[in-house]
Amino acid sequence: MMLTRRFSYLFLMIVSAGGRPFANPDHHQVLVLGGGVAGIIAARSLHSKGVGDFVIIEARDELGGRMRSHNFGGTTIEVGANWIQGTQVPGGPANPILDLAIKHNLKTRANDWFGSISTVIVFSSLILTFDASRPATYDSKGATDYLDVFKTSVDDFSNLTVLAGARVDEKLVDVTGRTGYSLIAPRKTDDHSRASEYYQFDWEYAQTPKESSLIAAGNNFTYNTDEGGFSGDNQMSIDPRGFKYLIQQEAQEFIKPRNLILNTTVKSISYSNSGVTVTLTDGKKVTGSYAICTFSLGVLQNNRVEFQPPLPAFKVEAIQSMTMATYTKVFLRFPKKFWFDTEMALYADAERGRYPVWQSLDHPNFFPGSRILFVTVTGDYSLRIERLSDSQVKSEIMGVLRTMFPNITVPEPTDFFFQRWNDDPLYHGSYSNWPPSFFSEHHDNLRANVGNLYFAGEAMSIKYFGFLHGAYFEGLAIGQMVASCINGEGCVGLKQVKDVVNLHPYEIPNGTSD
Ligand SMILES: Cc1cc2nc3c(=O)[nH]c(=O)nc-3n(C[C@H](O)[C@H](O)[C@H](O)COP(=O)(O)OP(=O)(O)OC[C@H]3O[C@@H](n4cnc5c(N)ncnc54)[C@H](O)[C@@H]3O)c2cc1C
Ligand SMILES: *[C@@H]1O[C@H](CO)[C@@H](O)[C@H](O)[C@H]1NC(C)=O
Ligand SMILES: *[C@@H]1O[C@H](CO)[C@@H](O)[C@H](O)[C@H]1NC(C)=O
Ligand SMILES: *[C@@H]1O[C@H](CO)[C@@H](O)[C@H](O)[C@H]1NC(C)=O
Ligand SMILES: *[C@@H]1O[C@H](CO)[C@@H](O)[C@H](O)[C@H]1NC(C)=O
Ligand SMILES: *[C@@H]1O[C@H](CO)[C@@H](O)[C@H](O)[C@H]1NC(C)=O
Repeated sequence: MMLTRRFSYLFLMIVSAGGRPFANPDHHQVLVLGGGVAGIIAARSLHSKGVGDFVIIEARDELGGRMRSHNFGGTTIEVGANWIQGTQVPGGPANPILDLAIKHNLKTRANDWFGSISTVIVFSSLILTFDASRPATYDSKGATDYLDVFKTSVDDFSNLTVLAGARVDEKLVDVTGRTGYSLIAPRKTDDHSRASEYYQFDWEYAQTPKESSLIAAGNNFTYNTDEGGFSGDNQMSIDPRGFKYLIQQEAQEFIKPRNLILNTTVKSISYSNSGVTVTLTDGKKVTGSYAICTFSLGVLQNNRVEFQPPLPAFKVEAIQSMTMATYTKVFLRFPKKFWFDTEMALYADAERGRYPVWQSLDHPNFFPGSRILFVTVTGDYSLRIERLSDSQVKSEIMGVLRTMFPNITVPEPTDFFFQRWNDDPLYHGSYSNWPPSFFSEHHDNLRANVGNLYFAGEAMSIKYFGFLHGAYFEGLAIGQMVASCINGEGCVGLKQVKDVVNLHPYEIPNGTSD
């Protein structure tokens, strides 16, 4: 009963906000630009500190941002975020997304990324047993057991985090993840090792070890409880209302219709030390004493929004130096389930990153009977498939499935869907990744405010960039900071570094000829 009422309230909010005329100029204490996790939590911080005159401006017709579900022939699938990554151990700190999931009764299931590739849960005569004799590892010959190689890659990754920590402690320069791997074990170039490494690395960072910082990739802030992380577990949303439900419900608790403008795209932002004016695509203007911009790093990098005056050089360098990576899940529904019984499977192609990680939703823990299988690609491979037509991508994937299951007549899928995150002007990618040439000072600059314009969002989180909880903590911190400015509790602004310089300048020794 309660649920139905809340749903209709949300509907009313959308309708009334969509058709709302602006008084010109429409002024508020704070403009929150973007209605994803960072924007909603920033608004909640404002509200809880007594700043009630804020408005969230969001381009889409619903809140949630990169928490985004899709109705795939009756099953709710997640085309954006899907997991609460790192949960909580007794007595330890909780991932705030876990807290929201519990608070709003979200339906989630544990998803064991490592055990689940090898272990089938067998239900027989009311006894539950685990069968690890048929790992879901595949290559160009079909099912091939290379679990030993997979296990080595798990150890390699854990050694990579130790190496990263040692470099931090010894104040050594950052290098690429690839250099790191080469320092801990001889280079491995066979297909099985490359696919296993992909599963540990690219599947998390959405980029290759070569494109990523060793120090940042080795960070333990999310998973390693010995180092302050939440837990090593992942909970996957299987809620039919969508993963986004937890943040939309959170928003319901404090957002009133006057606080929300949906379906409205920001075109330009003009800022100063006394206020911010936002111009919308329809030409209307909204002003704020302060603004918090939560648009993705991809939106900022591609100049989707114009800044007046243009952002200062230190800010532009920081924005262009972090990377916006892309993570793409391609969903297929078949007339019948013909694949592995594990939650996950790994396919090792001769080309690294070609349709490597497979997940079955037709599993007792998720959506049994759904006949849905999906495969993930990342980085440049995502950009490649975004440029292809759906039918080209589908036919490539069918080729891979026929390679994985040579003795099965693989049927054509009845449904097919994938979200093109990189091509989308509201995102231009899926989440940020830290490259080796990115300095801590760049990070300060990425986060820094310019006048009364503040920034928040996953990319601005030094500890949790790329994650939902990164967006959450940034929204919380920046919302509180802006509230202090408004409440006269101190308004110092964020650190900025005019020039990011090397400790040792690049130098060619004197006397070098040629
Ligand atoms: C495919 C994928 C898988 C992921 N998987 C996970 C996962 O399993 N676990 C996890 O923790 N994280 C995951 N993430 C990352 C997580 O979703 C993000 O870190 C988080 O949602 C970012 O929130 P945000 O508020 O910073 O940004 P956003 O959610 O991008 O919010 C910004 C909002 O601004 C709006 N906007 C943009 N431009 C304009 C404009 N010009 N005018 C008005 N509005 C505009 C956008 O529509 C958006 O709603 C995944 C992301 C993707 C894409
Ligand atoms: C959003 O705007 C479009 C175009 O202006 C309009 O057709 C649509 O009905 C609006 N949606 C909502 C939910 O207001
Ligand atoms: C990881 O490091 C440990 C300790 O140095 C070592 O024993 C182990 O062989 C390493 N693992 C791999 C896969 O290199
Ligand atoms: C990550 O954790 C390992 C094991 O506790 C530790 O040795 C390493 O220094 C940590 N890495 C970083 C970057 O903190
Ligand atoms: C497929 O069939 C061939 C020939 O019957 C057999 O040799 C092979 O082991 C089978 N492969 C798989 C993956 O079952
Ligand atoms: C090269 O010579 C210049 C000028 O004499 C001096 O300042 C500099 O330190 C020298 N550099 C090296 C690497 O010796």
